[in-house]
Amino acid sequence: MTDPSPAPTPHEPFDAVEVIRAKRDRHTLTGEQIDWVVDAYTRGVVAHEQMSALAMAILLNGMDRSEIARWTAAMIASGERMDFSGLRAPDGGVKPTADKHSTGGVGDKITLPLAPLVAVYGVAVPQLSGRGLGHTGGTLDKLESIPGWRADLTNQAMMDQLQDVGAVICAAGAGLAPADKKLYALRDVTGTVEAIPLIASSIMSKKIAEGTGTLVLDVKCGSGAFMKDEAQARELARTMVDLGRDAGVTTTALLTDMSTPLGLTAGNAIEVEESVEVLAGGGPADVVELTVALARAMLAGAGVTGVDPAEALADGRAMDVWRRMIAAQGGDPDAALPRARQSHVLTAPESGVLTRLDAMAVGLAAWRLGAGRARREDPVQAGAGVRMHAKPGDTVQAGQPLLTLLTDTPEQFDRALAALEGGFDIAPAGSGEAASFSPRPLLIDRID
Ligand code: URA
Repeated sequence: MTDPSPAPTPHEPFDAVEVIRAKRDRHTLTGEQIDWVVDAYTRGVVAHEQMSALAMAILLNGMDRSEIARWTAAMIASGERMDFSGLRAPDGGVKPTADKHSTGGVGDKITLPLAPLVAVYGVAVPQLSGRGLGHTGGTLDKLESIPGWRADLTNQAMMDQLQDVGAVICAAGAGLAPADKKLYALRDVTGTVEAIPLIASSIMSKKIAEGTGTLVLDVKCGSGAFMKDEAQARELARTMVDLGRDAGVTTTALLTDMSTPLGLTAGNAIEVEESVEVLAGGGPADVVELTVALARAMLAGAGVTGVDPAEALADGRAMDVWRRMIAAQGGDPDAALPRARQSHVLTAPESGVLTRLDAMAVGLAAWRLGAGRARREDPVQAGAGVRMHAKPGDTVQAGQPLLTLLTDTPEQFDRALAALEGGFDIAPAGSGEAASFSPRPLLIDRID
């Protein structure tokens, strides 16, 4: 946000202050106002302080469906659109494409087994992903722990890999929705990230510009998610599904729980290791359940029905695609993954049933151990993170390992342990609470 903001030229059709006032006074912005303000901000004609005032007015006063759709279209128009219609299926027809987007959570490594799993069934998966910021990890950070693996591909290399292997997970190029990049950086520092119209248009502009035919959204709610509250998560899911549909993309959302981490690992290399377990037909039940549910939704959207994706995890077909996908991007699927140099075990203070293991606490601990970054330019430690030895609903004995903290920088243990204080509850064995406890369902709802 250091670029200068030139004064508006006399040829500009609108005045930013008028647009800000209109939204401040709860009016509906016209399509022309929206097209102009998004474009003029991208060109540097609308100043950062003006866009930040408008973003705050949108956060406070909202936008209706047609405003959100127009805002999204304006952000798409700010950059390039990808086109996968050149991909060929074995019968010579166009190969269908499907993609997944998660609103982010702790231990969310689902993209790793999911992309190769869906590709097994002849659906191409162009998974453009990002790096992590804050307590949720980024898919590219996880994959970069595999020796040799490269996130940056040219558009041609991506197309070739989609045709030959069927799945690619790579960095989104700078050309997709550049208006969103600029606006997201501004929202990050002006307390305006949480506006549902702005979140929905930000995510969907990139996904629609990417050109996928089917999109499945994993909208998370709970302590470790962006949306803590189910009603808000539902509204976000509904808004994104409507945007996708209006743009001709077959879009479905699964509303899923993020009150506790997914699986038994939160970090980079340790999440890759767990994903490989899932691809080998094992792995934690919740990771398998969500991978299979999302695969089913992606396949159904792409017109593939009557298959059970769990079978391709069990019989090694998804693993075969994973190995080819990693190798195609320079990675060695057989290489040993980096390990943290130091570990610290946190034990259960009493015996009973683990009734809560808070996603935010674990995410924050993993982040402080070095698995995540505070600023976009920070490096991450491949081996850092948290291994969980029990999940809500499990019986634990006093003194047994509950969590193992991993890092190369042991001076971080104290701050990670502080993040975990109050982050779990154990109901004493024999208590009514222990007897009646049942974990929350992972899949909350589906929104079409
Ligand atoms: N992720 C995005 O890409 N945009 C948002 O606004 C929030 C999360």
